Amino acid sequence: MSIFWFITTLLLLHSCTPAVIGDSIVNGEKTPKITLQYMASVQVNEIHECRGFLISPKYVLTAAHCDTSDHMTVVLGDHNINPQKDLKRYEVAHKFKPKQFKHAREGDDIMLLKLDRKAVLGKNVKTVNITDERHRVKSGTECVFAGWGKTKKSNTKGVNELRAVKVSIVDIDKCKKAWMKKYKKMETFPPNITCAVGNKQNTGMCKGDSGGPLVCNSVAVGIVSFKSSTCESSDVPSVYTDISKYSGWIKEKMNKRET
Ligand SMILES: *[C@@H]1O[C@H](CO)[C@@H](O)[C@H](O)[C@H]1NC(C)=O
Ligand SMILES: *[C@@H]1O[C@H](CO)[C@@H](O)[C@H](O)[C@H]1NC(C)=O
Repeated sequence: MSIFWFITTLLLLHSCTPAVIGDSIVNGEKTPKITLQYMASVQVNEIHECRGFLISPKYVLTAAHCDTSDHMTVVLGDHNINPQKDLKRYEVAHKFKPKQFKHAREGDDIMLLKLDRKAVLGKNVKTVNITDERHRVKSGTECVFAGWGKTKKSNTKGVNELRAVKVSIVDIDKCKKAWMKKYKKMETFPPNITCAVGNKQNTGMCKGDSGGPLVCNSVAVGIVSFKSSTCESSDVPSVYTDISKYSGWIKEKMNKRET
C-alpha cells in the first residue's frame, strides 16, 4: 500500500470519540451559538463515528465512507451546552449511497440518511440549506467547516469542542497538483469534489470530522471526505464531496421516499 493511501486510510478510520458537548469556537475563539445547530453525530453502536448535517427534518447528509453494517443512529441537538437535556437519538430508516461508491479516494463519497421520524426543530436543532447545480463556489471564497476538531484543550482526553474553522476554497487543479506533488504515487484524484484549506495552521479537520459540512454563506456546499496526515497539518487542501454535483440525486432520493 502506498504511503498516501496508508495516511488517508488512517484518517478514514474514524475516531471513537463520544459526542460530547461544547461551545463552538472559531480559530480558538469562542463564538456565540451561531449556526451549528444543523450538526449531527452519526453513531455506530451509540459511539460517534462521523459528522453529518440536517438538511430537512427527516434527512441527514454525511459521507458514504462512514457506512458500516452495524447499528447506525443519528444524534441531533448536541450543540447544546447541557448534554443530557436536549440530545435526541434517531434511528436510520434508510441509507442512500451512490451505487458506484467504492472508496473516498474514488469519489461519490456521499450518503443520505432518512431518519425514522421527523426531527423536532427548535433552538438547538435546525436545518441547513444545500447548494444546487446552479451555484458553484469560486476559489478564494471564505467558508467554514464545522466539526469536533482537535484543539489544544482536547489533547487532554475527553474534552471535545464543536468548532467552526475558517477555510478558503482552493482551485481544483491547484488542489490536485498539490496532492500529486506531495504523494508522488497518487495516480488518480476523485471527480466531483471541492477543495478548501485552513487560513491558519492548526485548523485542519480531525478524525471523527468526516461527513461534516463545508458551509459557504450559510449554505452547505461540501462534505468532508479526506485530508492528509494529522489534525495539525494543512499543507495540502482538504477534499470535500461537491454537493452541487449531487443535488439532483439528493432531490430524487428525498422525493421518492418522502411521499
Ligand atoms: C434556505 O432556503 C429557504 C427556502 O428556499 C430560503 O427561504 C432561505 O432564505 C434559505 N436560507 C439561506 C441562508 O440561504
Ligand atoms: C462525477 O464525475 C464523473 C466523472 O467526471 C461523472 O461521470 C459523474 O457523472 C459525476 N457524478 C455526478 C453525480 O455528477
